[in-house]
Amino acid sequence: MEAVASKPVIKVVAVCGSLRKGSFNRGLLRSAIQISKDSVKGMEIEYIDISPLPMLNTDLEVDGNFPPVVEAFRQKILQADSVLFASPEYNYSVTAPLKNAIDWASRPPNCWADKAAAIVSTGGSFGGGLAQYHLRQIGIYLDLHFINKPEFHLNAFAPPAKFDSNGNLIDPQSKDRLKEVLLSLLAFTLRLKGNS
Ligand SMILES: Cc1cc2nc3c(=O)[nH]c(=O)nc-3n(C[C@H](O)[C@H](O)[C@H](O)COP(=O)(O)O)c2cc1C
Repeated sequence: MEAVASKPVIKVVAVCGSLRKGSFNRGLLRSAIQISKDSVKGMEIEYIDISPLPMLNTDLEVDGNFPPVVEAFRQKILQADSVLFASPEYNYSVTAPLKNAIDWASRPPNCWADKAAAIVSTGGSFGGGLAQYHLRQIGIYLDLHFINKPEFHLNAFAPPAKFDSNGNLIDPQSKDRLKEVLLSLLAFTLRLKGNS
């Protein structure tokens, strides 16, 4: 955590479970990053691409060293104060790429430990809401501390349109709700770090 004019600035890493170019969930993260720059003082959000990570295989850990791309990812998580997940729902759960990334950073020493986190999701029917419960369950073992409220799951397909053809969030109400998530994550991160 860095301080600007004696005010702490928390570092948030943003991780998306979809690798799709036009991913709506990544669109949520782009929007969250823009909102944080425009109107949330005290947080910096960095998007971390999980697509270069190999499928987890502990044989790739040699003499206690991880492959460089895995080590770089682990360092990003370690150095963050909190985590913003955008988690699509695949078959009522988190996606395989997201679980893979989570597992790599969970190898000892567990990079997720004692960090604050928030989940946003979008997709069909419940807007990814069921995947959120699985992610919360995974977070128990990782010692991640999720904010409970506000919840953010958005049906991407119900009118009016929520995203443009590039997967950018265009719905003003959803942007307002995203901002509330960021404010809650900021407050909870500071509480956890004893800075509130
Ligand atoms: C393998 C697979 C399984 C899916 N399972 C679900 C599901 O259980 N529930 C749901 O609401 N949507 C499901 N979907 C739809 C995706 O959640 C939806 O397309 C979402 O927009 C994907 O996120 P993205 O736009 O960020 O790529 C599934 C999609 C795929 C590819």
